[in-house]
Amino acid sequence: MGQPSAPSVPSPSLVLRGTLIDCVADPFFVPESEAVRYIPDGLLVIENGHIAALGPFADLYSAYQHLPLVDYSGHLITPGFIDTHIHYPQTGMIAAYGEQLLAWLNQYTFPTERQFQDPTYARQVADLFLDELLKNGTTTALVFAAVFPESVDAFFEAALARNLRMISGKVLMDCNAPDYLRDTAQTGYDQSKALIEKWHGRGRLLYAVTPRFAATSTEAQLKAAAKLLDEFPDLYLHTHLSENVNEVAWIRELFPQYDGYLDVYDQTGLVRERSVFAHGVQLTDEEFRRLSQAKAAISFCPTSNLFLGSGLFRIEQAKSTEHPVNVGLGTDVGAGTSFSLLQTANEAYKVAQLRGQKLSAFKALFLATLGGAQALCLDDKIGSFNPGNEADIVVLNPQATPLLALRNPAPLEHDLATIADPLFSLLIMGDDRAIAATYILGQRVNP
Ligand code: GUN
Ligand code: ZN
Repeated sequence: MGQPSAPSVPSPSLVLRGTLIDCVADPFFVPESEAVRYIPDGLLVIENGHIAALGPFADLYSAYQHLPLVDYSGHLITPGFIDTHIHYPQTGMIAAYGEQLLAWLNQYTFPTERQFQDPTYARQVADLFLDELLKNGTTTALVFAAVFPESVDAFFEAALARNLRMISGKVLMDCNAPDYLRDTAQTGYDQSKALIEKWHGRGRLLYAVTPRFAATSTEAQLKAAAKLLDEFPDLYLHTHLSENVNEVAWIRELFPQYDGYLDVYDQTGLVRERSVFAHGVQLTDEEFRRLSQAKAAISFCPTSNLFLGSGLFRIEQAKSTEHPVNVGLGTDVGAGTSFSLLQTANEAYKVAQLRGQKLSAFKALFLATLGGAQALCLDDKIGSFNPGNEADIVVLNPQATPLLALRNPAPLEHDLATIADPLFSLLIMGDDRAIAATYILGQRVNP
């Protein structure tokens, strides 16, 4: 059988009317009034699946009357959400009771991931997983597959069929895991290389070299992962880092010759631009500094960190002016408890509260959109409405449920300061019910 071919890409042209809101800079570092672009009665012009223009409806519409108009007045239109860390094979084991990270992996995760050597089952779950992402307004994700190359094929085939911008890769795991899930430094390298050659850059798909975490890879395997990063342009490195106290202690035992968890990745060549590290809950100040210097990124996964009792991420360390680190939001399903980046922002707000910090609605929106795009080095393509970007878009209904309608009785406000309140209520109370529509390259895909 030949390789699955890319579907004929639909390139719709249309205009959307509604309240446009996106970020053009990082509100952790510049005033929100400069970082957020807000157009109360706006027009978003999509040509050939890409953003062509945006502005006030009254100014722009006359030039685009020839295009089909979809009227979302009373709704918020934002860039599609970006999930910077999630595991598709863990879709069916969300909400596994009672354990913290290391026992949770042994008891629930490894037996679940074993099922993904079956390509039919893997494809079935990949389709359900992508349906769930789109229903929740997530249009791009950085996704762990399983150790089996078949699991990567199944995921990329499903994503390609939907024209999605997705990043994934085969898990590398050559020690401290059940034998049914282990590869070797050499087979992991060879299988990853074959998958990179098959998938990286095909359609909108990109490949991430994916060692699970330092505990399940030998030094030889981590170095082989770095070799792949050297051999192919624009690959990602995707792994876990400093999530749980016992995990960090175990890494010190396993790698006594290194100076801590991040240093294991650093000295094996894995800390670079385009490296995305999930969690970072237990990072030291020095490690934040090193991540900043390397231009690496962190995926902040609050629902997971709370569910597994891992701890509270120190976002202010990542957003310090002295050593800024790019941060995106991750759901980390199945340790995370929701596919919704609205619900993930809700928990991020509470994590900040527990640490005496405030995560404003605009900062949370940034993390779910442009911040995620920057963490994935894709901000020239997604994450904002900048003309030329791919038209992956979400439409939010501030009155989606009776409770939200009670909370947001008034029409949407006409200045940035007052839109903060309905936006905040959507982030705290919203979930898939608040997603009125999701567009992929200008094509409505949900509901
Ligand atoms: N660390 C290593 N593997 C995993 C995983 O599957 N989930 C989480 N949350 N942490 C990990
Ligand atoms: Zn994870």
